[in-house]
Amino acid sequence: MSETRQDYPAQRLSVAPMMDWTDRHCRYFHRQLSRDALLYTEMVTAPALVRGGALHLLEHSPEEHPVSLQLGGSDPQELAEAARLGAEAGYDEIDLNCGCPSDRVQSGTFGAVLMKSPERVAECCAAMIAAQPREVTVKCRIGVDDQEPRDALPRFLDRVREAGVRRVTVHARKAWLQGLSPKENRDVPPLDYGLVSEMREAFPELSLSINGGITSLDAAEAFLAEGFDGVMIGRAAYHDPGNILRLADQRIFGEGPVRDRAEVVGAMLPYIESELEKGARLHQITRHMLGLFAGLPGARAWRRHLSENAVAKAAGPEVVEEALALVTEGQSAAA
Ligand SMILES: Cc1cc2nc3c(=O)[nH]c(=O)nc-3n(C[C@H](O)[C@H](O)[C@H](O)COP(=O)(O)O)c2cc1C
Repeated sequence: MSETRQDYPAQRLSVAPMMDWTDRHCRYFHRQLSRDALLYTEMVTAPALVRGGALHLLEHSPEEHPVSLQLGGSDPQELAEAARLGAEAGYDEIDLNCGCPSDRVQSGTFGAVLMKSPERVAECCAAMIAAQPREVTVKCRIGVDDQEPRDALPRFLDRVREAGVRRVTVHARKAWLQGLSPKENRDVPPLDYGLVSEMREAFPELSLSINGGITSLDAAEAFLAEGFDGVMIGRAAYHDPGNILRLADQRIFGEGPVRDRAEVVGAMLPYIESELEKGARLHQITRHMLGLFAGLPGARAWRRHLSENAVAKAAGPEVVEEALALVTEGQSAAA
């Protein structure tokens, strides 16, 4: 067990774990936009893997690396076994979800409710660390319900640090476990970036990433300049990948060149063909690509053509090529 903070370049910019959104098709697409950003799976529950044997939930492409498997659970032995399965499946690291407030998740004692049980979280993390060789990280809130974040967050971080965790991502708002929907819990409780900054100073041995309401690379750069080890972006990266992920390698990681959007579409075509051959439907892949041209001429035609045509059973890569041709037309008309 090491107590030194982990300097892991990929964490400088990560795409948040998002249920139903960051599935393996989404991650493959995001990887065509950024070679360097750290990607996360949707949350996979430890009981589904260990008791349910749902190993298909671990499927991913080798191209997705660096990619972290996010687990949900609260039983140390079950999480340890799930982490071991994740490492064996090839994930680069394993993250424990202590931030998700949905009802389903609460009923299994997973997610944000664990902010109330730092001892339990520490036991889970220690077991996950002991069971397998990959880095174990934690994603949490600043507190839940009537907790006072200024007390709850440092207590929580202290325990996970003692358990051997070296990297934590903090979604900088509380979650209300009763009364707010999961969606409201991502917007309604106010953001407190200042408190997370204080934690950076109070826990210099932890690598901290900040998350919540960050919508541009300018904002991400400002947090990194302030001294954060990483910035995690969720909804904005998903809805506007062309302005965030596509420019991230150059701006955040100091690497070029930047692919243009049409090249990104071109890079998706062989993947689409091979996934369709394996039985996927076009819409399952293209639904993640709808925001690629956000804000540009032709964006609406792109979205509409894909939304209307990719659901057909026989839809193939030609639908994507047609949509791209509409964007090109839209752009020449606007020029
Ligand atoms: C559709 C959706 C699903 C989410 N699912 C998860 C999840 O499985 N695990 C998790 O830790 N957070 C989940 N979140 C929360 C995000 O990871 C992130 O913390 C939150 O959206 C705030 O970041 P943002 O303002 O950049 O979107 C989800 C968010 C969204 C929008």
